[in-house]
Amino acid sequence: MARKPVSAPLAEPTTVPTPKGVQRGEARTPAPEPQTPPVSPDQKLRLIAQDLSAGGGCQNCKLCKTRKNIVVGEGNPQAQLVFVGEGPGEQEDVMGRPFVGKAGQLLDKMIEAMGLKREQVYIANVVKCRPPGNRNPEPDEILACSQYLDRQLDAIRPQIIVALGKFAMQTLLNTDERITQIRGKFRAYRGAKLMPTYHPAYLLRNPESKREAWEDLQAVARELGIDATGGSSSIAD
Ligand code: URA
Repeated sequence: MARKPVSAPLAEPTTVPTPKGVQRGEARTPAPEPQTPPVSPDQKLRLIAQDLSAGGGCQNCKLCKTRKNIVVGEGNPQAQLVFVGEGPGEQEDVMGRPFVGKAGQLLDKMIEAMGLKREQVYIANVVKCRPPGNRNPEPDEILACSQYLDRQLDAIRPQIIVALGKFAMQTLLNTDERITQIRGKFRAYRGAKLMPTYHPAYLLRNPESKREAWEDLQAVARELGIDATGGSSSIAD
């Protein structure tokens, strides 16, 4: 006798509930993608500082063995103008702040002569830890630290960067040129204009070069739309 085919039990019909406010047959508007809020320059700078201080402090190079403090940088996260120096000196190492010694006092005068306040700009260094005895930073130290300066400049996205002295200029522009050859002329740097000029510590030793440095800063002020014509005397002494 032929066997009756066994059929699978029919699944219960399911009813898909219609969401509130939507008529059957009507297309549903897709739910909006969750939006990640943009990270502000201030938050980005805080993250960089956190990264540098994590795990008892950065140990990417040998300067960690002799430093007292990591000098991250300071100033306005929205600054149109960023000054980049070489690396912390003795005072900066003690205080954990950039340009607070004698060279820093001259830098403050230069900033004020431009018609600006220190709080309006951002100040950072190529290396964040003091080279012992204020020696020059070595290539491996610059290489180990340059990611932090890159991140700082990418966070702030200033209109103008002033590279103070040979190390800042050569690191940022990736060049062997001499500061005396290229100071005073804007170069393009990752969407910003970079002005190489003398380091304030050099100007303290060679005051006859202050006039040229002042011309460079006046060009920066003009680019920023600031009238800095009255400030030259304040950096003269
Ligand atoms: N010189 C620098 O290059 N940076 C400082 O922070 C202080 C002195």
